[in-house]
Amino acid sequence: MRWRTLVIIVGAVAAVVVLVVAASFAYPYVRGTEYVNEGVALEHPLAIPPLLEPAIVNGEKVFSLTAKSGRTELMPGAASETAGYNGTLLGPTIRAHRGERVRVEVNNELGETTTVHWHGMHLPAIMDGGPHQPIPPGNTWSPHWTVNNAAATLWYHPHTMGKTAEQVYSGLAGMFIVDDENSDALGLPNIYGVDDIPLIVQDRNFDDTGNLTYVRDKAQDNFGAMGDTILVNGTHGPYLDVPKQLIRLRVLNASNARRYDFGFSDGRPFRQIATDGGLLEAPVERTRMLLSPGERAEIIVDMSQTDQPVTLMSHEIQGAAPMMHLMRTLSVGDNDEYQIFKILELRPQGTAATPGELPARLNTIAPLRAEDAARTRLFAMTDRMSINAKPMDHARIDEVVTKDDIEIWEIDNREALFYHPFHIHDVQFQILDRDGRPPSDYERGWKDTVVVNPLEKVRVIARFSDYADPHTPYMYHCHILEHEDMGMMGQFVVVEHPSDETSVVSPLDGTTGTDHGHGH
Ligand code: C2O
Ligand code: CU
Ligand code: CU
Repeated sequence: MRWRTLVIIVGAVAAVVVLVVAASFAYPYVRGTEYVNEGVALEHPLAIPPLLEPAIVNGEKVFSLTAKSGRTELMPGAASETAGYNGTLLGPTIRAHRGERVRVEVNNELGETTTVHWHGMHLPAIMDGGPHQPIPPGNTWSPHWTVNNAAATLWYHPHTMGKTAEQVYSGLAGMFIVDDENSDALGLPNIYGVDDIPLIVQDRNFDDTGNLTYVRDKAQDNFGAMGDTILVNGTHGPYLDVPKQLIRLRVLNASNARRYDFGFSDGRPFRQIATDGGLLEAPVERTRMLLSPGERAEIIVDMSQTDQPVTLMSHEIQGAAPMMHLMRTLSVGDNDEYQIFKILELRPQGTAATPGELPARLNTIAPLRAEDAARTRLFAMTDRMSINAKPMDHARIDEVVTKDDIEIWEIDNREALFYHPFHIHDVQFQILDRDGRPPSDYERGWKDTVVVNPLEKVRVIARFSDYADPHTPYMYHCHILEHEDMGMMGQFVVVEHPSDETSVVSPLDGTTGTDHGHGH
């Protein structure tokens, strides 16, 4: 009888669905968390990227970066193939003050095309270092601009069409610290490498012989490349001697895809003082801090009363989607968000200082108001290869923004399993709300990258000031680098007047003969 067959089919399908759902929810509880590097001793002194000394030419700070490949002993006894700026891994820290004119001579000795993007920097699109400013092998690109950002921990990394993930993974990334009059006057720990510490956190994979490996396949692209070995500033198993006082950590998640939930081994509270784009209005006391790829945060940890080493940890991600975890585990192995890692051991040295005081007020942040927005744009994320169902096309302008407008960008993650850290070039934005709820106090600061959780809607607001160029797009994209490379990226131009003609003029199409980065 036909109805009987139907009942059996419907019943079977329902049973399978119930089983899969039940299994996926039960799985993490059955399996529990995994303390991945429990057996790794933190015994290598943390490398501190050197501060890059500029030359002063005609009142301009001129920095020089040379991207090249080489070999680096990341694991004892194995020299991995890596790449770096002015070295074989990562790059020096660039430091500049708001109001200063800077120029960076970027030499490409990699043997393949690259770009250098100034993540978080507010600057003309032609200087941004996105896909439209490729540097062919053997060439030099010399972007220059006046630093117009507030004091913040920014960074630089390649943004080469389709190659960003691989180039960053190979070691190309560095920090860019901006100071301003406000940060100068606050009395925060600011001795670079002593009590003001850059931490570039990355996860990597190594083969049995200790060589760095990067696998690019469908599964890796979907989930983003994750590794089970943590490097901080390129150092495996790092420790750092610190004075017994307040210590400032500038934490940059420069990983391709992994999120970290940072906290200390003894559960001690710390104070977050800055988000991606600058200082918070007031320190926020926390014991855990989630950072997704591309995000930065500055924290202060009080070591003044500490005699024993304390370890910065990354804990399992709270609220990680069990179904995603199950899928990830099935398709790419164990590299998931239920893992726990040691990150860095802080070893207090010397005599105790009196506990340092933090200013109660760090910054003034004028809130951008929704009612002042000229418009709201919607960015729907439905897969890992597109935004608004359009995969990245370097010749297509997706959005045209009028200069000086305040806009709301509503980022709507329609995926049930994947989170996406959404990044916008050119601006620092404020988070208006997450699913209608106002942001937590530690998110009430300037941001350029915001994690958008599965099925979450995040509204951000920004003012697009100063720089208009109808022919050179800025990017917005997911900062899981494999997603970006697969096409989860779009382009906007900022125009002087809404009626301005726009079109992409780019060396990628051979549509420009002029070498924009040079001269003037
Ligand atoms: Cu950090 Cu468009 O990138
Ligand atoms: Cu950027
Ligand atoms: Cu993504």
